[in-house]
Amino acid sequence: MKILVTGGAGFIGSNFIRYLLERHPHDSIINLDKLTYAGNLENLRDVESNPRYAFIHGDIADAKLIREVAPGVDAIANFAAESHVDRSILDAGSFIQTDVYGTFVLLEAVRELRIPRMVHISTDEVYGSIETGAFREIDPLNPSNPYSASKAGGDLMVLAYWKTRRLPVLITRSSNNFGPFQYPEKVIPLFITNALSDLPLPLYGDGRNVRDWLYVQDNCAAIDLVLRMGQDGEIYNIGGGTEVENLELTREILALLGKPESLIQFVTDRPGHDRRYALDCEKIRALGWRPARAFDAALEETVRWYQEHETWWRRLKSGEFWDYYRRQYGVKGEAERAGGLSTQVGGQGEGVGGTPPLTKRP
Ligand code: NAD
Ligand code: DAU
Repeated sequence: MKILVTGGAGFIGSNFIRYLLERHPHDSIINLDKLTYAGNLENLRDVESNPRYAFIHGDIADAKLIREVAPGVDAIANFAAESHVDRSILDAGSFIQTDVYGTFVLLEAVRELRIPRMVHISTDEVYGSIETGAFREIDPLNPSNPYSASKAGGDLMVLAYWKTRRLPVLITRSSNNFGPFQYPEKVIPLFITNALSDLPLPLYGDGRNVRDWLYVQDNCAAIDLVLRMGQDGEIYNIGGGTEVENLELTREILALLGKPESLIQFVTDRPGHDRRYALDCEKIRALGWRPARAFDAALEETVRWYQEHETWWRRLKSGEFWDYYRRQYGVKGEAERAGGLSTQVGGQGEGVGGTPPLTKRP
């Protein structure tokens, strides 16, 4: 297959490209990525000279470019998105532009160019929070924040093109991914790298929110299966089946690093913070998929990866990152900007409803 991967310089997309090149020796890949703050060509250094791989710098919302790039591809796998909930609460515009409008542009290209297949990568967040049980693909959407609302908008547009035009489109909705090359704003790499720098780990609310963790390679295997074996017009949930409270996760990370629990700092909760995500994955299981990696072993491997790739994440934790960090967490001080050795926190981050998020809870 000749596959157009959009957003391939990000976390899951770069892992997916590597997965395809290794598993499918006859596939070729075009990676189209806008290289936002989250896009990083270093994630693909090891494959950039592979003759079956090509990179194009561009925006999925650029209809003219998509019409130049997409003719002749057998499939599009759309990973391109603004992906961080906290950033969407600070500023939602780019989320609507990429996650909704960009998806529409790709759908129009699939229609006009008669591209045989498009897999749209979505998220369990579109269902919203669930106290007990697990969401099925037929459940209604109930997103809680601008990120998940934008992803729900993209999903609904994909489904509308299936319903009205029978376009060959499929959706995957996965739970929280973790693994190598994840931008250090997301909780696992943020907490690992903060702990490595002896910086506080800002745990939202009471730390009891639950996420279902999925190792990124397992998600790549599931997406690949859907790409080849899925049925047009269908949605596939992809869950790790490993529910962990944030506090427990944080303690595990600290234990793996041999760092003290005094680094945990409870901070003001994320607005609209979903309590728990859980997915019913019967449908993807019926295609033959199971997560291959046990959570504890995969987490340990991930922690070691960040320990061994300090240059990679230190380069990202600079400049724009600290501007965002200060805005989100209200951290003051040049030590953090320089790479972070100080544990002095406090201030007026605007990220969580205007209240200072990095003050200790009583
Ligand atoms: P990421 O933020 O690491 O990467 C996103 C990539 O998309 C970046 O390389 C960025 O440069 C690129 N991009 C952004 N806007 C673009 C545009 N307009 N045109 C072209 N490229 C653009 O995100 P991720 O964590 O790898 O997530 C990938 C996809 O998976 C997203 O659609 C996300 O919603 C979904 N998802 C992520 C998770 C998770 O836990 N990370 C879970 C479920 C679903
Ligand atoms: O569920 C799938 C989603 O998982 C994806 O669609 C998103 O793209 C991805 O970012 C992720 O969203 P979350 O909001 O669940 O991930 P995040 O890593 O931001 O947060 C995970 C949990 O950790 C959540 O309950 C909030 C909490 N958290 C997060 C950060 C960044 C903290 O307590 N402190 C933090 O500083």
